[in-house]
Amino acid sequence: MSRTMKNIDSFTHVRGESLFVDDLITRQDTLHGVVFDSPKAHGKITSVDYSKAAALKGVVKIFTHKDIKGENQIGGIMPDEPLWAEDEVHFWGQPIAFIVAESEVIAKKARKLIEIDIQDLPVITTAIEAKAMKSFISAPRYFKLGDTKAAFSDCEYVYEGETFSNGQEHLYLETQGCYAVPQENGSIKITSSTQGPTQVQKATARVLGVPMHKIEVDVIRLGGGFGGKEDQATPWAVMTAVAVQYLNKPVKYILNRHDDLRMTGKRHPYSSFFKIGLNKDLKIIAFEAEFLQNAGAAADLSPAIAERTLFHATNSYFVPNVSTTVHSCKTNLPPNTAFRGFGGPQGMFVIESAIAKAADQMGIDKRKIQEANLLAEGDEFPYGQIASNVEAQNSWFTAKDKFGVEQLEKEVKDFNSKHEHFKKGISFMPITFGISFTNTPMNHARALIHIYQDGSVGVSTGAVEMGQSVNTKMLQVAKLALGISAEKVKLETTNTTRVANTSPSAASSTADLNGKAVDMACSALIERLTGVAAKMAKAENEKISFQEDHVFVDGKKSRITWEALVAQAMLERVALSENAHYATPTIHFDKTKEKGHPFAYHVYGTAITGVTVDCVRGTYEIDYVKIVHDFGISMNMGIDLGQVEGALAQGIGWMTLEEIAYDTNGRLLSNALSTYKVPDIFSAPKIIETIPVETEGNKMAIHKSKAVGEPPLMYGIGAYFAIQQAVKAFNKNYELKFHAPFTPEKVLMGLYEKN
Ligand code: MTE
Ligand code: HPA
Ligand code: MOS
Repeated sequence: MSRTMKNIDSFTHVRGESLFVDDLITRQDTLHGVVFDSPKAHGKITSVDYSKAAALKGVVKIFTHKDIKGENQIGGIMPDEPLWAEDEVHFWGQPIAFIVAESEVIAKKARKLIEIDIQDLPVITTAIEAKAMKSFISAPRYFKLGDTKAAFSDCEYVYEGETFSNGQEHLYLETQGCYAVPQENGSIKITSSTQGPTQVQKATARVLGVPMHKIEVDVIRLGGGFGGKEDQATPWAVMTAVAVQYLNKPVKYILNRHDDLRMTGKRHPYSSFFKIGLNKDLKIIAFEAEFLQNAGAAADLSPAIAERTLFHATNSYFVPNVSTTVHSCKTNLPPNTAFRGFGGPQGMFVIESAIAKAADQMGIDKRKIQEANLLAEGDEFPYGQIASNVEAQNSWFTAKDKFGVEQLEKEVKDFNSKHEHFKKGISFMPITFGISFTNTPMNHARALIHIYQDGSVGVSTGAVEMGQSVNTKMLQVAKLALGISAEKVKLETTNTTRVANTSPSAASSTADLNGKAVDMACSALIERLTGVAAKMAKAENEKISFQEDHVFVDGKKSRITWEALVAQAMLERVALSENAHYATPTIHFDKTKEKGHPFAYHVYGTAITGVTVDCVRGTYEIDYVKIVHDFGISMNMGIDLGQVEGALAQGIGWMTLEEIAYDTNGRLLSNALSTYKVPDIFSAPKIIETIPVETEGNKMAIHKSKAVGEPPLMYGIGAYFAIQQAVKAFNKNYELKFHAPFTPEKVLMGLYEKN
């Protein structure tokens, strides 16, 4: 196949013509909603007075839980999340009511007129406090391999420590939003900025007390999701639908940035504890970790995210004795949610910290320990899957070789010996990331393809375009399978009436799952068209193929065009539409044993990160990140490189700059872009060099092109350890801490810390 193609949206993107929810032309009678949310993190609602707000001219109605005809429940994994609070509030920003007015300005004015009294209840903001108070979302999970107790007693070296990694704001450019329009007979069409159209449909039907067929959800594209719209696009859509059900008028709600920052959950902060044991050959013999996940006030996706933390707790290393536990801790923060990596990064940070601590105590390079323990073919993951087609060592040694590691390390040493007030650091970050939803039943997708009678083609799938360019990849799959040019293929919006019962676009699996379904649908169409073409060409079926918008006979281009073929198929009443279903084969997982084969395959890679720390100011620059990445056989290198670079920047931001802060009352302090710093052009690495690992690829991936959305985020973890090394080079007294993000403030304190 032609393994390159520009993102099909680039033309309309740069011209500002791409449509997002807020760009839709609305009906003239459209009303506007705004959420009234809790001004306290935990308490009993003793009274709410809506009278002044309701009396404001232009306010149509204020909706509360009392207006719900079905269930006041939107919890996906667990039924623990009301749409609107009833008697108690559990986080600052929890929706209590929904004001619908003739304009957004009026709705917001009315919001200020609502008077509420809340009787304070104790507020928990950290996972550690929650655990002490036995405040949990779900039962703990335990993964075990071998026998750590026995193994530790055989270890030459044993170290313990603790880590913290903070949350992270998704900061999608397009904030949450939706537009709901009444149709006939109580049906409602919702246009939503969601990664999970079916989730929105299902939750809406439940809250409205109507069958799912009454609710149509349409998604054009997202201005970014990053996991933040896997579950948390749902409440706003449901609220507007409740209003539509009652008022029979269209209702729109686009959150402004402040409301979005305050009311939505983020990446989960984790507090973790580790114990690592090594023998004198630097082999990691035993590893124990306890992860405390700060889930926030409701489950959302937390149990699934906690599970993925355990799946990735040993990262790219083989450890024969492992014992890990995760507690999903209930606190009074907004429910934390999916964020690129889905708990995996939090797990990997801990074992990397453990290795850093061991190396520091042993007085050797961290890299030596990493290198001695890389996964090999046939190694067993703690969850029972046997590693195959492993590229962990391949990517590591390719990076060493291609990027000239000895030279890079020598540069650091030379520089540090010459400079007093600037120090450089270098780190290695291998990654191993499992591809598939960890929840096996979610690994399926569908595609619906129409060939129209003029030969043009419409492709519908369950895939949501959110900037990752999945639509471009779907188009590539379709045009290759049908042998036609790109102009003939259109990617339709993602719509629940065309493709039903979808999993959210997530887990980096969207292109694999939906792409395989597109391929299957195209194959079925081609099979039918082959019969028609054979008759037209007076040749046998076996001789027919489709390429370059023509029928090929015996590998040679005939005069029969694609259009002529389709026209003939119409005359012969051959079906020109096909619906296909793909479900990932071979995967399974038994939660009672915590063993199985949950992943279709793994993605591997290695990043080398070089940094320079200004030891007077505590500021730092990322000089370079050099990556050998396992793309499989990339079907679109331009797009995939974009995913690597974007994910890397996001990972570096999480590890270095982005600092979510709540006060002890549970109020978000980092509630604007003036107080929440994301990487900009100045903090991005000066050089990013990415080369593909040489590999056979994996046929479980679409056209052997491996999933790329999330794995490279974890290269960003390397920045933490490179900075740490530079700090240590300046201050021998610095005691290694694993408390991310490593902000310039923390770096400065580390530089001048005295023992
Ligand atoms: N890239 C862009 N530009 N915007 C996004 O919102 N989301 C990420 C990743 N890359 C995202 C992105 C996340 S969290 C996931 S799971 C994958 O894309 C989802 O898409 P995929 O399954 O097609 O890789
Ligand atoms: N990854 C991302 N999203 C998910 C998953 C997963 O493994 N499971 C449920 N939602
Ligand atoms: Mo991605 S966190 O799986 O949406």
